[in-house]
Amino acid sequence: MISANNVTLRIGKKALFEDVNIKFTEGNCYGLIGANGAGKSTFLKILSGELDSTNGDIAVTPGQRLSFLKQDHFQYDEYTVLDTVIMGNARLYEIMKEKDAIYAKEDFSDEDGIRASELEAEFADMDGWEAESDAATLLNGLGIETDLHYSVMKDLLGAQKVKVLLAQALFGNPDILLLDEPTNHLDLDAIAWLEEFLINFNNTVIVVSHDRYFLNKVCTHTADIDYAKIQLYAGNYDFWYESSQLLIRQMKEANKKKEEKIKELQEFISRFSANASKSKQATSRKRALEKIELDEIRPSSRKYPYIDFRPNREIGNEILMVENLSKTIDGVKVLDDITFTLGHNDKIAFVGGNEQAKTLFFKILMGEMEPDEGTFKWGVTTSQAYFPKDNTEEFDNDLTIVDWLTQFSEIKDATYVRGFLGRMLFMISTSPL
Ligand SMILES: Nc1ncnc2c1ncn2[C@@H]1O[C@H](COP(=O)(O)OP(=O)(O)OP(=O)(O)O)[C@@H](O)[C@H]1O
Ligand SMILES: [Mg+2]
Repeated sequence: MISANNVTLRIGKKALFEDVNIKFTEGNCYGLIGANGAGKSTFLKILSGELDSTNGDIAVTPGQRLSFLKQDHFQYDEYTVLDTVIMGNARLYEIMKEKDAIYAKEDFSDEDGIRASELEAEFADMDGWEAESDAATLLNGLGIETDLHYSVMKDLLGAQKVKVLLAQALFGNPDILLLDEPTNHLDLDAIAWLEEFLINFNNTVIVVSHDRYFLNKVCTHTADIDYAKIQLYAGNYDFWYESSQLLIRQMKEANKKKEEKIKELQEFISRFSANASKSKQATSRKRALEKIELDEIRPSSRKYPYIDFRPNREIGNEILMVENLSKTIDGVKVLDDITFTLGHNDKIAFVGGNEQAKTLFFKILMGEMEPDEGTFKWGVTTSQAYFPKDNTEEFDNDLTIVDWLTQFSEIKDATYVRGFLGRMLFMISTSPL
């Protein structure tokens, strides 16, 4: 069990958390939700002890081990994949390294012998002999093949690194598992694997995610951060949404009833307070009136972007035709004889383990690369827009956000572009527009 007791965190003058009391217990999976910047990552750091709160404290059941999947993906660049996973259990890793150092000595003293046997005992207690095979099983489950287990982390692709760090967090069956946006950069297979893992995991899990399908599948509880407080709901994301909406509806109805009562009492008082025979009743109604308090309704402070996607013109029946398209990169046939026709109302998701193949295919469709064989044709009534996976190049300039976006706007007017940015939640007051 892990709990936060009267936790307050101030950053500058602003309280990010104010007197938060919450308890997370065994066997439950808690989804920690809230708007961008509400403090989800910060709260996980407080729970893990990485960050001290201004007031209050965190209590963990003595002897319980906590592990944490963070968003820093570069910390282990110099270590091998297998070592990185085993480091998830810090004490076990320490023992292994100390043992190795002793056995590597040329002049092995009596003291070394005693120390080595102590370490061996502790190592055996912790099922140390299983460590490598346990780590390998986790990695294979996440789709990191055995030939990568001895590579160093910096040679891995971004998505592979996330999987290794996830395996590190899961390694050695921690009692409390903190996960900060674990599904980012994971493919569908790895997400499905993680969902199964978390559903079968019997200890405490606290997970931050913006993916409500994932939250619905794995969470038994939902903890909502808003207005510097954390509200706990016993249910998944959909349950939180329904019950928080219901709560607001109930409060509104209760307020409406109270307002009617207030009006009734006020009418009675103003009619009869001058009337000697009724003045006693008027006084008691005044008292009743003073006792009625309206509930303060504070709906979620979340804001959602407004996306208005309207085509410039009606499109015809011919949208996209791809015929016998193939492409070989560095001797590997990445795309092999692809043929399909995209229809009028189709929306297609391209899925699959090979990242390179999908990106390559999109680059070909956008004319950035040529196919070796085959053809594709966009319908004459269509226009295309492309959101590339790696968009760092797009921002390699000193333009302001407004100027940058104006390049892509048909209407070259700063007010129009600012309005558009506002709908996507770029606030004029907070962004260097
Ligand atoms: N060390 C710090 N100094 C100043 N401000 C900070 C610091 N750490 C976090 N913040 C601020 O605290 C707020 C909460 O940040 P946090 O990263 O916890 O949000 P989050 O809920 O995880 O958001 P997201 O959904 O975008 O990941 C933000 O406004 C952030 O700018
Ligand atoms: Mg965060």
